[in-house]
Amino acid sequence: MTKSTILTLVGSLRAGSTNQQLAEAIQLNAPEQVDVVIHEGLGNIPFYNEDIDVEGQVPAEAAALREAASKADTVLLVTPEYNGTVPAPLKNAIDWLSRPFGAGALAGKPTAVVGTAFGQYGGVWAQDEARKAAGIAGARVLEDVKLAVPGSMVRFAEIHPKDDAEVVEQIKGVFDALTATAPAA
Ligand SMILES: Cc1cc2nc3c(=O)[nH]c(=O)nc-3n(C[C@H](O)[C@H](O)[C@H](O)COP(=O)(O)O)c2cc1C
Repeated sequence: MTKSTILTLVGSLRAGSTNQQLAEAIQLNAPEQVDVVIHEGLGNIPFYNEDIDVEGQVPAEAAALREAASKADTVLLVTPEYNGTVPAPLKNAIDWLSRPFGAGALAGKPTAVVGTAFGQYGGVWAQDEARKAAGIAGARVLEDVKLAVPGSMVRFAEIHPKDDAEVVEQIKGVFDALTATAPAA
C-alpha cells in the first residue's frame, strides 16, 4: 500500500518549542500508512516579496517548501499563538505557498491546523487565523480537525507530549478526523 504524506509546518522556531514536540508526538503516533514529515528551516525562508518570487530565481528555502508541499497529500500546521494570531514564520510560509496566484502549492490541498499555546484556550485564535489564511491561499481547510492544548510551557515542562496520555488520545482523534475528511491522509 502506498504511504500518504502529511507535511507538517511548525509555527515556532524555538529550540525547546512545545509545538515542535507536539509535531513529534503526532509523527510518532501516525498510522502505519501515513508518513508525517516535519519541515525544517521555516526560519530561513526570506520574508515573502514579489520582487524575489521570480521564476528560476526563487530562494532555495522557499522553493524547497513549495516542493515539499506539492508532493504532500495533506498539510498540517502546528502552531502556537503570538499576540492573538499566527507567528510570522508560519504566515510567511503560507504566503509563499499561496503563489503563483491560483496555482500555489496549497491550492486544493487538504490542510489542518492544531497546536499548543500558553493561554487557556490553547491558541484557538491563531488556529482560526491560520485556517483563514490557508483557505484564502486556496487550501481545502479541514475544519473538523481540531486540537488546541492550553498551558504549553507548564504542561510540557516535565513531560513530552508523546508521553502525555491525554494528548496521545487527542492525537488519535486528529488522525481519525483526518482520515474521515481527507482519506488520502
Ligand atoms: C511574542 C509572544 C506572544 C505570545 N502571545 C500569546 C497569545 O496571544 N496567546 C497565548 O495563548 N500565548 C501567547 N504566547 C505564549 C505562547 O503560547 C507560548 O510561549 C508557547 O509555548 C509558544 O510555543 P512554543 O512552545 O512552540 O515555542 C506568546 C508568546 C510569545 C513569545
